[in-house]
Formats: sequence, C-alpha cells, structure tokens
Amino acid sequence: MCGIVGYVGYRDALGVVVDALRRMEYRGYDSAGVAILDGNGGIAVERKAGRLANLEAELDEAGAAKFAGTSGMGHTRWATHGAPTDRNAHPHRDCSGKLAVVHNGIIENFAPLRRELEDAGIELRSDTDTEVAVHLVARAYAEGPTAGDFTASVLAVLRRLDGAFTLVFTHADHPGTIVAARQSTPLVVGVGQGEMFIASDVTAFIEHTREAVELGQNQAVVITADGYTVTDFDGDTDVTSRPFTIDWDLAAAEKGGHDYFMLKEIEEQPTAVADTLIGHFVVDENGGRIVLDEQRLADQELREFDKVFVVACGSSYHAGLLAKYAIEHWTRVPVEVELASEFRYRDPVLDRSTLVVAVSQSGETADTLEAVRHAKEQKARVLAICNTNGAQIPRESDAVIYTRTGPEIGVASTKAFLAQVAANYLVGLALAQARGTKYPDEVAREFAELESMPKLIARVLETAPQVRAIARELAHVPTVLFLGRHVGYPVALEGALKLKELAYMHAEGFAAGELKHGPIALIEDGLPVIVVMPSPKGRAVLHSKLLSNIREIQARGARTIVIAEEGDDTVRPFADDLIEIPAAPTLFQPLLSTVPLQIFAAEVAQARGYDVDKPRNLAKSVTVE
Ligand code: M6R
Repeated sequence: MCGIVGYVGYRDALGVVVDALRRMEYRGYDSAGVAILDGNGGIAVERKAGRLANLEAELDEAGAAKFAGTSGMGHTRWATHGAPTDRNAHPHRDCSGKLAVVHNGIIENFAPLRRELEDAGIELRSDTDTEVAVHLVARAYAEGPTAGDFTASVLAVLRRLDGAFTLVFTHADHPGTIVAARQSTPLVVGVGQGEMFIASDVTAFIEHTREAVELGQNQAVVITADGYTVTDFDGDTDVTSRPFTIDWDLAAAEKGGHDYFMLKEIEEQPTAVADTLIGHFVVDENGGRIVLDEQRLADQELREFDKVFVVACGSSYHAGLLAKYAIEHWTRVPVEVELASEFRYRDPVLDRSTLVVAVSQSGETADTLEAVRHAKEQKARVLAICNTNGAQIPRESDAVIYTRTGPEIGVASTKAFLAQVAANYLVGLALAQARGTKYPDEVAREFAELESMPKLIARVLETAPQVRAIARELAHVPTVLFLGRHVGYPVALEGALKLKELAYMHAEGFAAGELKHGPIALIEDGLPVIVVMPSPKGRAVLHSKLLSNIREIQARGARTIVIAEEGDDTVRPFADDLIEIPAAPTLFQPLLSTVPLQIFAAEVAQARGYDVDKPRNLAKSVTVE
C-alpha cells in the first residue's frame, strides 16, 4: 500500500524521488505526486491520478527548472479515504502552501480532527484523512508552545493521531530537513554520505546506499543531509531503532527478501487483517458501533433484509462460505452463498429485501460483477467487499467495506482472503447491530476478539519451518485430501484450492461428515490427509466427531496431518504430524488455520520447481466469463 520516499542531499531531488517511485510501483498505486524544495523558501508540487507516466508527463510539461532542488519527497497512493483523483493524490499542503505531507495508512480519528479544522475556518480541499495532518501541523507551527519549531510542531500533532500511519513532512522554510514518523506502517531510513533517504521500503534507495535503519513502532525521525535523529513522539531520543546493511538485490528487496511475492504476502497477513479492521468500530455514547467504509444503505434497510446472498469466485467464495456461519449465527437471517458464475444464470429469488454481499479482491471479476448487476436489476441491495478502491464492483454497489491489504501480486490469494474473512465478519456484526440481534456490548466484544486475531496470526506464522518440512516430504505425492467440519470445511476447500493452483496437484477438500458417503473410499496406505480440528473448547460434538473421522482414516492407512489448537492432547495419538495453532473463538479460527495451508501449498510448489507467483493458466483478475 502506498509508496513513500523522502530525500535530502546534494543530487537532483526530483530524479531521485521519481526513480524511487518507479521502483516502488510493485506496491500498487492509483495516483502519484512529488514535492521539491528549491532551498529559497519555495516548494513545487505536482500530483496526478493514474500511472506514474501521467505524473512524469506533467513534470515534463512544467519544465525541470520549476522542480530544481536537492530535497523533496514523493508518493504513490493506494486510495483508501477518497477516490483515486488528482485532488486526493499526495502531497497535500496547508493553506500557506509551504508545508506538505505524504501519508501511508489510515488516520482513524480524522473525522473529529476535520471538524475541528473546519470550525476554525480552514477549508479542506480533498476527501482524504491525510489532509488533516498538514493543517494541524501548520496550526501548531503558527501559534502556541511549538510555534516556529517545525519538528516540535509535527511531534505535537503525531501525539493526537490514532490509527496506523507513516507520515512525512517537508516545510519550504526548512529545506534541508524532513520530519517523518511511523505508527504500525513501515518506514526505513537510508543512510548515505552527505545524503539521507526515508522510504516505505529499501527498494526506494538501494541504488544509492545499502546502509539502512528500521524505525521501531511510534517513532519519529528527522533527517538532514548529514544525519538522522530518531525519537519517540515526545521527542525523547532514548529509543531503539535497528541499523542494518541491505544484502538483497533489487528484485529480492521488492519481495521483502523472499523468492516470491506470495511468501511476503503470507507474512503480511497480521497487518492486512489489522488494517482491514481499523476505523470500523467507532466509540460513541452507547459504547461503540460498527461502521462500513461507504454506507449508502440506511440502518432501516439493514433491519428489513430477510435474506442474504454472498456471491464470489475462487478464494473469495470460500471467504463467503465462512460469512454464512457468522452472519446466520449473529443475526438469524438466512444466508445463501453462491458461486457468482452460477448465481447469475440461475434465476435466484431476489427483491428489495435481499442483501447481496459481493466479495472480490480485484473488484473487477467478470462473474461477480455480472452477479452484482443481475442483483441490482432485481432490486436487491448490494454490499461489496473489495481490495481495490474505485474498482467497478464497489462503484456499482450500495455499500462497501475495503479490505486494506495493499496490492496482492501473487496470483494465489492469501492476505486478501484473510482480510475478506475479517470484512465478512464486519458485515455480520453491522447487521446484528442494526437489527438488534446482538447487544451493543456483545458487538463490541466480538469486534475486540477480531481485533486480537492479528497477533495470533503472527504466532501461526512461526509454524512455517515445521509446515515446510512436511511439505517437502510430501512434494511428490499424487493426491492430498483436506478435511474439516463447520468453519473448518471452507478452510479445507481453501487449502485444496491453494495446492491445486500452485502445485498442480490433485487436491480435494471435504466436509468430514461426508467421508462415509463416498470419499472414504479414496483412503489408502500413505495418502496424506490434512485435517482442520475445531477447538476442543468450542462445541464438544464437533470436536469429538472429527476425532472419530481422523481415527477412521488413520485406521485405513492415511497419513494424518492435523492442525489443532495448542493443548488439544486428545488428537495427538491420531496425528502423524501435529501443527499447533493458538486458541481462538470458533468462528475466528479460520483466520489461523488457513495460514499453514497457504505455507504448505507454496512450499510444495517450490519443491516441484513451479513459479509460486504466476501459476500456469491463471490470471490475477479474471475479467472475462
Ligand atoms: O478478484 P477476486 O477476488 O474476485 O478473484 C476471485 C478468484 O479469481 C480468486 O480468488 C482466485 O480463485 C485466486 N487465484 C485464488 O487463490
């Protein structure tokens, strides 16, 4: 999500900044901009929607002289608040035009801050959450205890911001200084000789220096051509940052040191889920409430729906299957989940009181888009869950929740899938809240549990070495089966899809209860079966039934690879391999149990020598039916 670069030194800053933006294009973006300081109190800003080439054309037209200078910053924006337009592109400036900011992330409390600024007579010129930051710093710089002190003004504002953000500020009157900060989102310093860089990742400056410093959480940094100072948001220098030498080449740097983007994306899942949840619970006089991103549906409508359809394709469909368990449980409204390609040609029963939830990472999948159009023709209302701001599906929908994972480059969905699951649960909680099927404190509790999941996902990532070892042993078997019950069933389907698409291996996911109705005939000596165990603390009947299923297949010679909750000793005797994941509420367990299956599929594919990011015959966005 968003690429940020800042430069102070002796080179032509525009060249450095534009090159850096080009190298960070892989992060995904929908607009770009630069701010260059001339060193004499002037600042030149250009920003443009669309590809970097659009910005470069504008810069060419304006002429190099306008952008001469040895310090500046640049930004590629992945839209979250506000459409991907010229006016929402970064940098944003204060009313004097001297102070500029670029931002990655989400300022969660931007709404009250925006009101505060508007009440003070400041006219904001964009729809972004970002712009509040620059006006607040301008006010702190103009008056009060931090007046005239650029760094202190920035720090004072940082202390007022909630959310996840990287912010970089430049001031025309301080051309040799850049002030930046991070809270949850990334920021690295590049340490050169007589020049300094800051950026979202090291690709931005790897051609100039290999000496870097990774900032810790809630740290600010001031860079000048001669050095850098890291502090906390109170200005205290007693903090720890991590200097390191970059030993990756450029291609590896883009992939965070991995061979494939997908492996990096698997690791990004805690952040992807955390970012997707940010801002969706707003504290109010009743304790708090769930809010969507773009809400063009009245609460009254949410109350009146008598049926929900979830439509999607591939992994997004599996995320939809999980939505059924949560939405029906929390709201008692019947939910049907359907492949978008089937839904549209089937003549489903739809009317004004039907809510259709369309789940799509790309927002452009032809089948899902056509399903949305069909639903709208039948007067149903549509809520989109999408990862791409401004894509066609959210544009044509009545409400939207964005999964804020940043671009997913690997064709196989990983971080987008987990974020879709979280977003589907938000839909369930929003419906439960509007319909009163959950008390506000229950909604708040469920949301808090959901918010605690990213930490647990990070712990599941620690199982990677064990999962990889199992994957390497099984890399050349012809078939792998996946079994689950309840929410473990869609997880089994997702695990099988990952293995098919990445490793070109025969893989099938089954509802464990179906075993005796046919699939058990497939079990033979040594056949690997990956089993997703429900929590022993959840519904006891689910756990004991699955335990008997494992016994049955093990007795017939299957090699059982069991994903089970830590401390679930009952399963140990029946597991040839046991992958332990942390305990979580039943509905949320898929956010954990899916992760080893992704790692497994990627490792098998690598062991078989396949391109993990670009599996054969597949496209990331399927824009034809
Ligand atoms: O962009 P979408 O979420 O609409 O895409 C849907 C499917 O094409 C997608 O999930 C596909 O199944 C992935 N390759 C799965 O990893």
